[in-house]
Amino acid sequence: MRITRRLLTVALALSAVSGPALAQSFPSRPITLIVPFTAGGPTDAIARLVGQSMSTTLGQPVVIENVAGAGGTVGAARTAKAEPDGYTLLIAHVSLAASASLYKSLPYDTATAFEPVGLVNTGPMVLAAKKDFGPPDAKAFLARLKQDGPKVTIAHAGVGSNAHLCGLLLQQAIGAKLTEVAYRGTGPAMNDLVGGQVDILCDQSTNGVPQIEAKTVRGYAVTSAKRLDVVKELPTLQEAGLPGFEFTLWHGLYAPKGTPAPIVAALNAALRTAVADPTIRSRFAAGGTEVYPEAELTPAAHQTRLEREIATWKDVVAKTGVSAGN
Ligand code: MLT
Repeated sequence: MRITRRLLTVALALSAVSGPALAQSFPSRPITLIVPFTAGGPTDAIARLVGQSMSTTLGQPVVIENVAGAGGTVGAARTAKAEPDGYTLLIAHVSLAASASLYKSLPYDTATAFEPVGLVNTGPMVLAAKKDFGPPDAKAFLARLKQDGPKVTIAHAGVGSNAHLCGLLLQQAIGAKLTEVAYRGTGPAMNDLVGGQVDILCDQSTNGVPQIEAKTVRGYAVTSAKRLDVVKELPTLQEAGLPGFEFTLWHGLYAPKGTPAPIVAALNAALRTAVADPTIRSRFAAGGTEVYPEAELTPAAHQTRLEREIATWKDVVAKTGVSAGN
């Protein structure tokens, strides 16, 4: 407890901007961490793990609120409009960057509506099917998707979600159109995959690996350039015959624009304590995901990544012509 208090003091002292009195007493009440997808999914699980540690460091509860819908943009909008006082945060991922181009209109400007607090984790997606889908390996799996096209249902978590973007790139790579089924998160999507109500799902490794290991679903491939240690038997999609296919997800924490710098610094320090925790690191590793190197844990590094990702997805959206249709 003494160490964590000292960390906060250092973070506040190091901040270049001297904030108002509010910043000096921060936090003096519970903090809300908005998860823009359903409870029981991968983003929710990461938020709860990190939020618990941050609450110990900050000495105030970090309360998770699931504000799901429209590929994460409903929760992002709520955060963008919240008071910039450090008491409302958002955990978001690739969808925050991609939705800036995918959606014709959003109630916020992604590039300017948030103060990036810090990056949380990064990892691949895993491609899985309902247990009795059939194909014996990844190559046969891709051939089946190509052959059956719209007869195959692919679940996702709304336009712009990781699962949706991964599925879009997959359909483009194999040159076939599948039937998309939208959920408000991959928690319920995975439930339906286990139950056999949908055929396939590309999900974050932290949500997919435990089900593949438990054999409740059948794993076919990983979206990283290298195989994942935790499911070494699964080939990469590149090995399975899709050269250049790679999809990497990342999570970051955000505060509304205008949140005083000393408060962002205190939140960043608490986040860094969380991602340095060996228990959290080993939970991440068991799910095939990892934390960023020290140099990339600053709010500035996070801002750079967000800008880069907004530009990357703008290109992808322009090339593929996909849109959220709003
Ligand atoms: C979730 O927690 O449901 C995921 O973040 C959805 C996704 O992006 O695929």
